[in-house]
Amino acid sequence: MLYVHKDHQGRGVATALLAALEARAREAGLTRLTTNASRIAKPFFLRRGFTLLASQRVERRGVEIENFRMEKALDA
Ligand SMILES: CC(C)(COP(=O)(O)OP(=O)(O)OC[C@H]1O[C@@H](n2cnc3c(N)ncnc32)[C@H](O)[C@@H]1OP(=O)(O)O)[C@@H](O)C(=O)NCCC(=O)NCCS
Repeated sequence: MLYVHKDHQGRGVATALLAALEARAREAGLTRLTTNASRIAKPFFLRRGFTLLASQRVERRGVEIENFRMEKALDA
């Protein structure tokens, strides 16, 4: 999950969080990260090296929404 308060978006907060997460994951020896990204977040993840695996429909509190299964290899 990755959410930044609307008043603080576009300042690099999510970029910094993702960079810290990636560094921890590499330290732990993990080889890939996965996410179920919203339509809004998909371009953010694409620009940071994630690839799109599939779009999927999920239900949240009775509302069907589309999200995107994505992954980033860490061993490259
Ligand atoms: C998607 C989301 C997490 C991104 O968070 P964010 O902190 O705004 O992201 P960043 O600021 O790191 O990067 C977003 C854009 O801000 C701009 N930006 C980054 N750092 C910047 C800086 N220092 N100065 C000015 N602009 C900057 C960039 O244009 C960047 O776009 P890019 O992807 O083309 O590089 C946020 O928009 C969000 O919470 N959205 C709603 C909830 C949601 O859909 N979450 C995803 C669930 S999977």
